[in-house]
Amino acid sequence: MAWKTLDDMDLNGKRVLVRVDINVPMADGKVTDATRIERIVPTITDIRAKGGKPILLAHFGRPKGKHVPEMSLQPLVPTLEQAFGAPVTFVERPDGDSLAALPADAIVLVENTRFTPMEEANDPQMAGFLASLGDIYCNDAFSAAHRAHASTEGVAHHLPSCAGRLMQAELEALEGALGQPVRPVVAVVGGAKVSTKLELLGNLVAKVDHLVIGGGMANTFLAAQGIDVGKSLCEHHMTDTAVEILAKAKAAGCEIVLPADVVVAAEFAAGAANEVVANDACPADKMILDAGPTAVARIGEILDSAKTLIWNGPLGAFEIEPFDTATNAAAQKAATLSKAGQLISVAGGGDTVAALNQAGAAADFTYISTAGGAFLEWMEGKTLPGVAALEG
Ligand code: 3PG
Repeated sequence: MAWKTLDDMDLNGKRVLVRVDINVPMADGKVTDATRIERIVPTITDIRAKGGKPILLAHFGRPKGKHVPEMSLQPLVPTLEQAFGAPVTFVERPDGDSLAALPADAIVLVENTRFTPMEEANDPQMAGFLASLGDIYCNDAFSAAHRAHASTEGVAHHLPSCAGRLMQAELEALEGALGQPVRPVVAVVGGAKVSTKLELLGNLVAKVDHLVIGGGMANTFLAAQGIDVGKSLCEHHMTDTAVEILAKAKAAGCEIVLPADVVVAAEFAAGAANEVVANDACPADKMILDAGPTAVARIGEILDSAKTLIWNGPLGAFEIEPFDTATNAAAQKAATLSKAGQLISVAGGGDTVAALNQAGAAADFTYISTAGGAFLEWMEGKTLPGVAALEG
């Protein structure tokens, strides 16, 4: 790896600026899913064990450079303290002297970095100011690494820098899934629109052996092959692009797997009356809401012979029953194979983790990324500025 880890740094007596992503879901002032907080604990624990003083930098929401009280990081302090098992000192306006005055074993949380427009502008003055608060920079925010901001990118150029434990784990898992994967590799990509995942599909067909396409995107690919998909969600203006992706896949030796059968209903509603039909037999007044049992069996066969799986997006309308059936079955199959040590499975991005949690499959996946947008950009083959800055 081209970047340093905490193992390569002398942290004793050092102020360690740690960029974390604690952009967690909240309701009524309480954290509703603390996964991102739990996943930074090893980094904070390690820094403290090595005699360093962690100073956490993080954003919350999208305040667009303004001080938005509802987007303060202060309400996260109790959850952080519980996770770290130690007190956290919240600092609204950090300055070198007040930070130096804090006890050596303090953990500091600095207010939302996005309360100034200088953060997203990656302003060199802000990067320099942040650097003046620490001796070492540790980036543990893979899920914000697609942003070239002062606290994720700029500051790395001013201080000796390294990846935190979560960043390290994310990069290692992702490298194992697409960088140097054990083959055969299968990608499962679902979701509503081809238009939002164009670059991702284009990159994947050159890298994986099987590309399973699900969700609304599959309808666009079916339509591209001249199939009438009735009232289904379908981007008819993207069918030429779908044809290009199919051709690119063929040239690269990547099998694109579309559902051979589908579940159709007259309305998008939980419990709607439904039937299974062949993929070319969707009635004109109905819509495709899930992949059918033959499609699920085919995905199962592919997973049985695969060694590596990368998953992003649900196969059907997983938010409403019973149209979560294909997603659940395929996720459970992948989880079982992973648990048995037969499959390396990596998942991330947007709805994916919610879908895998709902299927009860997430715990047995080899690695679940904490990243949404960053995971997608990485799947697109893009260089993430926050990661690149660690290499420089
Ligand atoms: C996320 O939640 O995916 C990250 O924290 C990045 O947030 P952003 O999309 O507002 O930059």
